[in-house]
Amino acid sequence: MGDPVITVEDFRQFQEFFYRKTGIYFDESKRYFVDRRLIDRIRDTDTTNFRRYFWFVRFQAGGEELQKLTNVMTVNETYFFREEYQFKCLVRSMLPEIVKRKALGSPIRIWCVPSSSGEEPYSIALYLLESWPDLDRWDVEITASDIDTDVLASAASGKFSKRSVSNLPAAVLSKYFSKSDTDEYQLCDDVRHAVDFTRVNIVDREETRPYRGFDIIFCRNLLIYFDDLSRRQAAEMFFDALNPGGYICLGHSESMSRIVPIFKIRKFPDTIAYQKPEET
Ligand SMILES: C[S@@+](CC[C@H](N)C(=O)[O-])C[C@H]1O[C@@H](n2cnc3c(N)ncnc32)[C@H](O)[C@@H]1O
Repeated sequence: MGDPVITVEDFRQFQEFFYRKTGIYFDESKRYFVDRRLIDRIRDTDTTNFRRYFWFVRFQAGGEELQKLTNVMTVNETYFFREEYQFKCLVRSMLPEIVKRKALGSPIRIWCVPSSSGEEPYSIALYLLESWPDLDRWDVEITASDIDTDVLASAASGKFSKRSVSNLPAAVLSKYFSKSDTDEYQLCDDVRHAVDFTRVNIVDREETRPYRGFDIIFCRNLLIYFDDLSRRQAAEMFFDALNPGGYICLGHSESMSRIVPIFKIRKFPDTIAYQKPEET
C-alpha cells in the first residue's frame, strides 16, 4: 500500500491546530518535514488516513497521541556550551548583581526553558561549578523544562553523544563525564542531580502558572519557531515568572524589544539581556 496522502487542506488544518497547541507555526516551506511525520504517525496508529488520524489526535481522552505527535514535530538541536558568552555574562555580571539584592540563605532560581535534551541547563551547572567563585555561599536551583517528553527522558539520563560534548573544554569533559566503549558520554550524578526536569508547554497558561519567582530565565532558540503573537504571549508569561530585577536571555537571533516594551534592555560586556524592572 502507498503512503497516505496529506492534501493542502489537511496541512492547513494541522498547521492551525498545532499552532494553537504549541505556538509553533509551520509555514509552507516546512511542508515536507510535516507531511513525513504525519504519515509516520498515521501508519503507527493504524488510522489509515489524515481525517481519521486528526480526529484521533484531537479527541483521544488521555492525550498520549498528541504528546507523541508533539515529540516528533519539535526540533531539538542543542549542544553543550552553545552561545557560551551568555554563561560568561551569567557569572560575571548577572549573578553578582542578583546576589546584592538577595538575603543570604534564600535560593537563586534559574529556569531553562526549553531545555531540549539537557545540554543547556547542565552547561549552566558546569559553568557555575567551574567559574562562579561564590557558588559555595549560595543555594542555586536550576529548573529545566521542555514540551517534548522524549528529550526530557534523555536529559534526565545524562547520556550524551560525542557531537553534543564536542564544544566542551577537554578538562571539563574529563572531570565531569565518563566515556563508554560506544563513544557515549555519561555525566556524573552530582551534576545530573543539580537540575530538575519538568514538562511544560510555554503557551499554556494553566501549565506555566506555578512557574514563578525566578531570578534568571534562559529561553534560547525557541521563539524563532513562534509567530509574533505567540512570542508576545510567551514574553508576558516570562515577565510574570521573573522576580523584579530578574533577567531573561534569548538566543542570538531573537529579540524581545520588538515584541514587548515591558522589559529593559541591559547591555553587558558579553551579551544583551532583558530585565524586568525592579518596581512593577
Ligand atoms: C532548538 S531547541 C533549543 C534548545 C536549547 N534552548 C538551545 O538553545 O540549545 C527548541 C526546543 O523547544 C521545545 N519547544 C517547542 N515548543 C515548545 C513549547 N510550546 N513549550 C516548551 N518547549 C517547546 C522543543 O521541544 C525543543 O526541544
